[in-house]
Amino acid sequence: MPPETELRVKQEVSEHRLPASLQMLRNEHAELACVLRAMKRMLDRGPDDEPERFFDLLRAMLFYIDELPEKLHHPKESDFLFPQLLRVAPQLFPDVEKLEKEHVRGDALVRSLQHNLIAWEMMGEPRRAAFNEAAYEYIAYYQAHMQHEESVIFPAAARLLRAEDWKRIDAAFGLGYATLPGKPPTQNGYERLYFKIMAGAAAEPHRPEQTAQSLA
Ligand SMILES: [Fe+2]
Repeated sequence: MPPETELRVKQEVSEHRLPASLQMLRNEHAELACVLRAMKRMLDRGPDDEPERFFDLLRAMLFYIDELPEKLHHPKESDFLFPQLLRVAPQLFPDVEKLEKEHVRGDALVRSLQHNLIAWEMMGEPRRAAFNEAAYEYIAYYQAHMQHEESVIFPAAARLLRAEDWKRIDAAFGLGYATLPGKPPTQNGYERLYFKIMAGAAAEPHRPEQTAQSLA
């Protein structure tokens, strides 16, 4: 391949590469999607004859889907991506407003699930249906939330934000999260927890490339 052709191909590839911060958000979605899918499989199967392992794993999953979005993922969207996007695409305000409300509601739903899980574990079968119903509802709710972001917000951001916008967002995402509220723990801790959960669920402990849109 002539050098000039090779250079053009490389430029085209890099032009189509997602900004690092957007890819980071998609990776977090993919991990959350895997945990939600593993949780659904567990609920479908039930505790069988290993209730201790079952409840331990569900508790770890709920901790993960409580902590990762609230402390790490949502602040990146709410404090950096959404405001930058609204500046250039104010017509997306209704979408962003809905997603922001879902961020808040999702936090409350997970706390309620954690309570319902303890209720099932402590009180036994009579409390199982309430947890299952709420958990299935939450899984569908959060999958739809991520799909909304991936089908509307992320493509618009990739299309409309300029290189200097992404430079700012990338910096905010990559500088040890020092600029994020509450200074959450590093991503590494959540990565370890993610792999532990997926190994425990006997699922493939890989970091998938697929997005939330491939959840169904
Ligand atoms: Fe998100």
